Amino acid sequence: MARGTALAGARVLVTGGGSGLGRRTALLAAERGAHVVVWDVSAARGDAVRDEVLATGGSVEVHRVDVTDADAVRTAADRVGDVDVVVNNAGVVSGRRLLDTTDDAVERTMAVNVLALYWVTRAFLPGMVRRRRGTVVTVSSAAGLVGVARQTDYAASKWAAAGFAESLRAEMRAERTGVRTLVVHPYYIDTGMFDGVRTRFPRLLPILAEADVATAVLDAVESGRERLVLPPLVRVLPVARALPVPVFDRLMDVLGVNRTMDHFTGRRDDVVGGPTTSV
Ligand SMILES: NC(=O)c1ccc[n+]([C@@H]2O[C@H](COP(=O)([O-])OP(=O)(O)OC[C@H]3O[C@@H](n4cnc5c(N)ncnc54)[C@H](O)[C@@H]3O)[C@@H](O)[C@H]2O)c1
Repeated sequence: MARGTALAGARVLVTGGGSGLGRRTALLAAERGAHVVVWDVSAARGDAVRDEVLATGGSVEVHRVDVTDADAVRTAADRVGDVDVVVNNAGVVSGRRLLDTTDDAVERTMAVNVLALYWVTRAFLPGMVRRRRGTVVTVSSAAGLVGVARQTDYAASKWAAAGFAESLRAEMRAERTGVRTLVVHPYYIDTGMFDGVRTRFPRLLPILAEADVATAVLDAVESGRERLVLPPLVRVLPVARALPVPVFDRLMDVLGVNRTMDHFTGRRDDVVGGPTTSV
């Protein structure tokens, strides 16, 4: 028996499942036989994914949920019931220098990328602990391992996400709940969220293909792997943090990490659907 959570017959919740990595994760989980629950703040994006899953004979339900709204999350979770896998995927980026950012942009990044982790996970964890099964996936980023220019809010939010995931893993182990966790640290992915970013060494630090990341996430859920860092070179970045700061900074310069955002044209202020209520 796999150490992780088998997807055939499982109930899998994907936040931000209407686009990019979330959409692809939902489609592929449905292909593996899961019943997929897609939550997205955009009804149009969610509906499109529902049509795609149904067209391939998959099992899906879609709810319009703003994951930053704790009451809306609780209400929607009550309607969904127990799930076996929670994929905390919804995320936003602002891509501004700290000198240029706004209060709203910072608050939104923190609300979607950090606070929602608490609202969504707390809504479903009691059922997983009660049934002693399941996996909580937290999508952090390579920016959750090292800081990056023009990502002071995004990187901080992804470090917080990583801290959330690691602490949750510690709690689940200490209390022997049987619930597993998976934290995901991808470099840039070709979803459109980070359109315009450039990578200096495309072989070493490629822009990842959405389907490859989603496949790796689902493989990790099924095998029980608890940390996924893509591509492999990114694994050395946190180790390099042990170097003296000038050496570490020089390494980041050589890799071009802090220039990746120079031509960023991605989904800044992607407020889809305007103010939202709930399901
Ligand atoms: N794209 C990358 O380069 C990259 C790299 C590393 C990590 N990530 C992370 O991967 C995750 C998915 O990113 P993506 O590239 O697929 O982005 P995306 O913009 O394609 O998709 C994000 C989805 O989240 C939804 N969403 C946003 N705010 C929401 C809210 N308040 N409530 C519910 N849904 C909301 C959006 O409507 C959208 O459908 C994010 O957490 C992101 O930070 C992305």
